[in-house]
Amino acid sequence: MTLKDIITGIKFIIKSKRKPPCINITLTDDYSEQSGKSEKPSLKEAASSRNLFIGATVSYNATEEELALATGHFNSVTAENLHKWPHLLKERQGDPLDYDFSRADKVTDWAVKNGMRMRGHTLVWSKMNHTHPKALNRMVSESENPGKMMTGILEKHINRVMGHFKGRITQWDVVNEVFRYGGEGIDGIFMDVLGEKYIDDVFHMAHKADPGAELVINETIGSYRGGKAVEFLDFVKGMLDRGVPVHGIGIQEHNNVKGLDDLAWFIKEVEKTGLFLEITEMDMRANFFRKEPDKYQAQAEALYQRIKTAVDSKCCRGITFWGLHDGNTWMDRIAGPRSHAPNEPQLFDGNLKKKPAYYGVLRAIEEAAER
Ligand code: XIL
Repeated sequence: MTLKDIITGIKFIIKSKRKPPCINITLTDDYSEQSGKSEKPSLKEAASSRNLFIGATVSYNATEEELALATGHFNSVTAENLHKWPHLLKERQGDPLDYDFSRADKVTDWAVKNGMRMRGHTLVWSKMNHTHPKALNRMVSESENPGKMMTGILEKHINRVMGHFKGRITQWDVVNEVFRYGGEGIDGIFMDVLGEKYIDDVFHMAHKADPGAELVINETIGSYRGGKAVEFLDFVKGMLDRGVPVHGIGIQEHNNVKGLDDLAWFIKEVEKTGLFLEITEMDMRANFFRKEPDKYQAQAEALYQRIKTAVDSKCCRGITFWGLHDGNTWMDRIAGPRSHAPNEPQLFDGNLKKKPAYYGVLRAIEEAAER
């Protein structure tokens, strides 16, 4: 046996005593850090110290690991579907005032127990068939006085739901997506029956039902300099002139990549109204950047820019991601984006590991002033 053989033997023994690379160990280590046990500041710590909300959505069937990820990194949460009117009912197709709150309660109580803010999404929404209780269509066509019937139902619904969650849900999207997707007017069953005055009315009803709750008008604007942005802002200013209790503007950002100047312009306009702003539904698909050398870095940079633009204004109080991780995203399920799956729009990958996007958002938040 030569000296070289002995050295090689010793090296082998040392090497074999090291832990072999193991995917589970890597994931577990990373996961404990993601659950907030590491010393690195988490997104939620960075946000909380600046009085900002950073949120994600959870669904009813979230796993323990997903819930731990949410509590580890976010100080706000939205139920992806559970607080929507049809989801609160005993039967989706049944009586629109016959509720079963058990599923929504479970998620709401989990959020409250973990010190997270729960956003209520959403009281009144009529877009596609699934967004309002189906029974309303039949009730309208059978009613002798559909206006009176609809106002009565809206009032009971708002009272019942806001009353039920009072103290646990502190901010509500009172209405969602009232304007046509392309702009130019308001659509939906409530508009058809009651005219646009229904929007003022439901805000008054909501304020009466829970005077302590923050009331938000949530909308998907698209381009922030186009007709719909102006139409929306004019409408909100009109609400304020009429003394309607609206406190905040929520914007959906599912498809926005470019147009930072337009976003900045829009936010300045919001600032002038005195209302607060939240990005209530954020997706940034990595897939948008598939032609870049590193799509994940490009996604991180785009998110950094966008969130920085938003939080540069003190009227911006929060950002909520519409999902939690790339393994479960509505983007991979809906027509259009699903043909590009995986869209990977979130901050964590399907193994719940942080992506560069996470650090892009953290950086934007860390650069934000306290509000
Ligand atoms: C989506 C959910 O993510 C899906 O699970 C559901 O099937 C349809 O609704 N704008 C909104 C959200 O205001 O409520 C939508 O959520 C996404 C678009």
